[in-house]
Amino acid sequence: MKRCVLITGGAGFIGSHVVRQFVNKYPHYQVVNVDALTYAGNLENLKDVESAANYVFEKVDITDRARLHQLFEFYQPDGIIHLAAESHVDRSISNPLAFLYTNVIGTVNLLEEARLAWREDLLGKRFHHISTDEVFGALGDEGLFTEETKYDPHSPYSASKASSDHFVRAYHDTYGLPVVITNCSNNYGPNHFPEKLIPLCISNILENKPLPIYGDGKYTRDWLYVIDHAKAIDLVFHEGKNASSYNIGGFNEWKNIDLVKELCKQMDVKLGREQGTSERLITYVKDRPGHDLRYAIDASKINAELGWKPSVSFQEGLSLTIDWYLENKDWLQKVTSGDYQNYYDEHYSK
Ligand code: NAD
Ligand code: DAU
Repeated sequence: MKRCVLITGGAGFIGSHVVRQFVNKYPHYQVVNVDALTYAGNLENLKDVESAANYVFEKVDITDRARLHQLFEFYQPDGIIHLAAESHVDRSISNPLAFLYTNVIGTVNLLEEARLAWREDLLGKRFHHISTDEVFGALGDEGLFTEETKYDPHSPYSASKASSDHFVRAYHDTYGLPVVITNCSNNYGPNHFPEKLIPLCISNILENKPLPIYGDGKYTRDWLYVIDHAKAIDLVFHEGKNASSYNIGGFNEWKNIDLVKELCKQMDVKLGREQGTSERLITYVKDRPGHDLRYAIDASKINAELGWKPSVSFQEGLSLTIDWYLENKDWLQKVTSGDYQNYYDEHYSK
C-alpha cells in the first residue's frame, strides 16, 4: 500500500521545508499538508511543489474535530508529522487561549483521530510530534538540555507545548499509540515570519527601522538552519525509536545582541552600506515578561543513534538567509502588510 503522510502546519516556516523534503525525496508517498492558513501560514512558501503529483493541500483547522475525522477517513494516513501550532512567545503572552486551543486541544484532536483510525492495526504507524526546547525552561550560564531534563515551561507558549508533549506520551503509555517527539532549538532560514528575531531584523534593516532588543540583549539562543531541522525530522520519523524523544540543536549559541550585530555586519556588506550603518538602528526596548535567559541543546543522542548533525554553519546559513530575503522582497512585503503591521504597531508601542 502507498504510504500516506499527513503533515500539519505545512504552510508555516518549518512545515513548508518539511513538506518540500518529503514531496521531493519520497515521490512514492502521498503527502497531505493540513493547515488552517493562519497569519503564519502561507502557500507562497510551497509554490515549487504545489503541482507535484504526490502532494495535496487541505485547509483544515486542527481544532475542528469533525473536519479532521473526515480527513482521516478519506486519506487513511499511516504517518503524521505534527507541526501546526501557534509558535510565537510574545503572542502567547497577549493571547494565551489561542495557544491552548491549537497547541493542546488541536494536538489531542489529532491523537484521538490517530487512535481511532489505527485501533485495529498499529503496524507501520507513527505519530511524530514536533516540539521545542522551550519546554525545558531556562538554563543558567552553564549546561545543556538533554532528553532527561525535567520539563519547566515558563511562557504560555512553552506551557502549551509541554502539555501537548505530555499528551503525546500519555497516548503511547495508555493506548500504545506509536509516537516519537523531537524538541528543537531556534530555527532560522528562508520563509521565516518576520515577527521572529532574525527575519524581523532583516526586514527592519531594509526599511531603516529600529532593531528592538529586549532587555540587555544578553539572552542566549541556540540557532539551527531550518533545512537541517527538516532533515532531522525526516530521519527521526523513519528511524527514531518508538516512544523516544530526540533533542535537535545547532551547537551554536549566540547572545541576541551579538547575533544582531553579526547580522548588521553582513547586511551592510550585502547592501553596499558603510559598516556601522545597520548597527546604529539597534534599540534596547522593554524586556519580554518571564524571558528565559538561555537555551542550549545537547544533540548527542540523535547523533549517536541516527548519525544526524547540523550540516550548515551559522555564517553560511545566515548569509543564505539574508540572500533569500533580498531575493524575495515581494514575499516580505506581502506578509509585512495588513494584519502583521497591526501586530507590530501594537506590540512595539507598549
Ligand atoms: P509557524 O508559526 O511559522 O507556522 C505554524 C503553521 O501552523 C502555520 O502554517 C499555521 O497556519 C498553522 N496553524 C496554526 N494554527 C493552526 C490550526 N489551528 N490548525 C491548522 N493549522 C494551524 O511555526 P514554525 O516556526 O514553523 O513552527 C512549527 C512547529 O515547530 C511548531 O509546533 C513549533 O512549536 C515547533 N518549533 C518551532 C521552532 C522555531 O524556531 N520556529 C523551534 C522548535 C520547534
Ligand atoms: O527555542 C525554540 C523556539 O524558538 C520555538 O519553540 C518558538 O516557536 C520560536 O518562536 C523561537 O522562540 P524565541 O522566543 O526564542 O524566538 P524569537 O525569535 O521570538 O526570539 C529570539 C530571542 O530574541 C529571544 O531571546 C527574544 C529576543 N527578541 C525577540 C524579538 C521578536 C528580541 O530581543 N527582540 C525582538 O523583537
